[in-house]
Formats: sequence, structure tokens, C-alpha cells
Amino acid sequence: MDLYAYRSGRLFCEDVDLTALAAEVGTPAYVYSAGTLRHHYRSFAEAFAPLDATVCFAIKSLSNLSVLKLFVEWGAGFDVVSGGEVFREQRAGADMSRVVFAGVGKTDREINEAIAAGVGVFNVESEAEFENLARLARAAAAPVTAALRVNPDVDPRTHTYTTTGKKETKFGVDIERAERFFAAYGRDAYARLTGLHLHIGSPVNTIEPYVEAITKALALIERLRAAGSTIDTLDIGGGFGADYETGQAPQAARYAEKIVPLLARTGLKIIVEPGRQISCNAGVLLTEVQYLKAGGDKHFAIVDGSMTDLIRPALYDGWHFIYPVVLPDGAEPPVRSRQYAPAGAMKVDVVGGVCESSDFLGKERRLPALHRGDLLAVFSAGAYGFTMASQYNSRPRTPEVLVEGDRYRVVRRRETYEDLIDAEA
Ligand code: LLP
Repeated sequence: MDLYAYRSGRLFCEDVDLTALAAEVGTPAYVYSAGTLRHHYRSFAEAFAPLDATVCFAIKSLSNLSVLKLFVEWGAGFDVVSGGEVFREQRAGADMSRVVFAGVGKTDREINEAIAAGVGVFNVESEAEFENLARLARAAAAPVTAALRVNPDVDPRTHTYTTTGKKETKFGVDIERAERFFAAYGRDAYARLTGLHLHIGSPVNTIEPYVEAITKALALIERLRAAGSTIDTLDIGGGFGADYETGQAPQAARYAEKIVPLLARTGLKIIVEPGRQISCNAGVLLTEVQYLKAGGDKHFAIVDGSMTDLIRPALYDGWHFIYPVVLPDGAEPPVRSRQYAPAGAMKVDVVGGVCESSDFLGKERRLPALHRGDLLAVFSAGAYGFTMASQYNSRPRTPEVLVEGDRYRVVRRRETYEDLIDAEA
């Protein structure tokens, strides 16, 4: 579900005409729909409401300050992975006790900042990290709460670069080591180890891997409790799929249907860390066609957006539906699917201007005839779009625009050339 739709042949985000928006803000530009974010956040909160659950939005997917402030208003918790993300949450005015901090490589500085900020749970990924956390908490005389990230060795059936819950990845500790871990560290007075954390991968478009991982975690919790440990929290991670193609991913309620019964009578506090399913469909990248050209059998539409704005196609073969913002006269709105081909379509590679062959936004797309100056929307770009953007080729990063109803505001201005060199000597 999202609030992007064609009205009389023109793409709107909520009640904002994106052609008019682009004329004012310029291209390339990211646009986010607040109503879509709210819908997906609420869907998670409602789906997991039968449990004692906190929805911690994974801000690595979308971390604009104005967006985070909306989530604070809605009462969300947050999943963060760096000192920078802790800082963003403080600036957004988050209740830091509802923030969970993951990551395999937390530095002393990051840990100290998070302790000072009062972060709710440290999701710890190794013995060495736990010892360091306990040491720093003791030195600060500030007890913290920790959860052990276990690696349930479950295949999430997704891209290898975003598979995290299998044994051969760097994440968490093998589930077989967990009992030894609790035996060694379960009584630390400064890092109170009272939870388990899972995150199996992303995007996970099926529900079974969650069921498998949670079932393994619950069996482990029973063993740990039998051995005298207090376990009061299970964080089931994120990774819930999103609709890059219409209907591709189960929605929150469908995941919850299978997950909630597993957890209902455990007495555990539950944390859920969705990023993509909340933010993905809330965003589009607007980009303008600069040139059209043929090469061999191919047709290229060269646009002003590029891999520096959206790296998912280059990095993971990520597929994003791309379509003109203004439809040809009388044309029907498209269906967002790989199969979709309008009458008279041409096969086009939509590429950016960066000096890399991997700089494409979409390959072999069946699009209506394009012209220089046409505006294209790259859909489902709200998650891991702007947050993974770079300035490679000294390209200033795009603005981010937040739409609420019939209003919009630029919540990050377009970078200037001065911004490119600002931190340099
Ligand atoms: N929790 C933890 C511990 C994570 O590592 C992640 C994502 C999430 C939650 C949120 O996952 P989500 O619900 O957004 O799928 N850049 C890649 C995705 C990398 C995900 C990294 N961790 C992409 O663009 O597909």
C-alpha cells in the first residue's frame, strides 16, 4: 500500500502533483509520503499489539530528521547501528529508552555515547564486545541492558549480501555458543544480559524463516531459563519484505499471524525492527531524462539520477519500477510489475551519468516513448535510497522532500558544490 497514484495522467504523492513539485525543487529528488509511512508503522504496531511489543523503526533504511520526528510523534521505538544514528535520535527527541543499538563493530566512543544517551538495549554480537560494553558501563557507573544476538543458522532466501542469520556471516554468535555466553556473562552487574536478538536477513519475502528462527530462539530461552538465567526480552529483528512489485511481500498482519501465536504465552517483551516494509513504498526518486541514445541493439535513457542516489540496482541487482510521471495522452496508469508493458512500449535501459557500467537504475524497461526533459519516477525508493547515497564523481546529493496531504516541504536541501569540499583542507 502507498499513496502514490495517477490522477488524470499525472503522478501524485498524496495530494501533491509531482510535476509541480519537481518544477520547484528540481531533479533528482527524493520524495516521501508521510501518510504511507504512518500507515505501515501503524500496521506493524496493530499487528503485534496482542504481544507486549515495541516497534523499533530501523532508521538505516530512512533517517531524515524530519521523518524521525514523525515517528517520535507516533510513539515508535528505533533500531540504530552507529553513533551517528544515536545522535540523530537524540536530535529527533526520541525516548532513548526505546532505542535498541545493534552492530558488530561498536567502538568505545559509540558505546560511551550510547551509554550517556541512555539507550534502552545494546544488542551485543560477540564475547569481546560484551566484555568491552561491561567494562565501559562499569567505568561510567551506568548499568546498561544487553541482549545477545544469536545466529539461528536459518536461510532467509534473499540476496547473499543481505543474508545475516546464516552461520558463515559475521553477525551474532552461533546459537550453540549462547548457553556458554550466558553462563560466562549472565551475572554481570553493569551489563545486564536479559534478552536475545535475531535478525536473519533482508528482505525476507516468506514467513517460514521467521518461524524457524523464533522457534529455535524459544527453545534456547527455555534452556537458558532452566539454567537460571533471566530472559525477559526477545528482539525478532527486521527484514520484512516490501512491495517493489505490487503484492510481492506479505504485509505486517500476515507475518504477525504466524509469529504472534508463537510468542503469545511466553511472557516475553517483544521488539520488532522493521525498516524497509515501513519506508520502501513511502518514497520515490524523481529524475529527469537528459538524453536518449542507441547503442548496439540497446536504447538508453540517460537521466540526472544515478547510482550515487540509488545504489541498490548496482549493489544487489535491486529492481525498482520506473515510469513517467506524466502518462501519454489517454494512457492507463501502469501496474507496478516486471511483466507490465504498455502498448507501443520501447525497451530502454535507464542509466545515470556516472563513469561506471554498473550505474543503472533499471535495465530493459518497457516504457512509453520518452523525450528529453521527461520526468521519471523510480518507485519503492524510500528504503536504503537516500541513506546509501554518496557524492561519488563529486555529485552533490539530492534533496529530500516530505509530503503531508496537499503540502510538502524540503526536509533536506540539495547539496551544493561548496558542500562537496566543506570538510576538506
Ligand atoms: N535490524 C537489523 C539488526 C538490521 O541489520 C536491519 C537491516 C534491520 C533491522 C532492518 O531491515 P529491513 O526491515 O529494513 O529489511 N541495504 C540493503 C538492506 C540492508 C539491511 C541491513 N540491515 C538493501 O538496500 O536491500
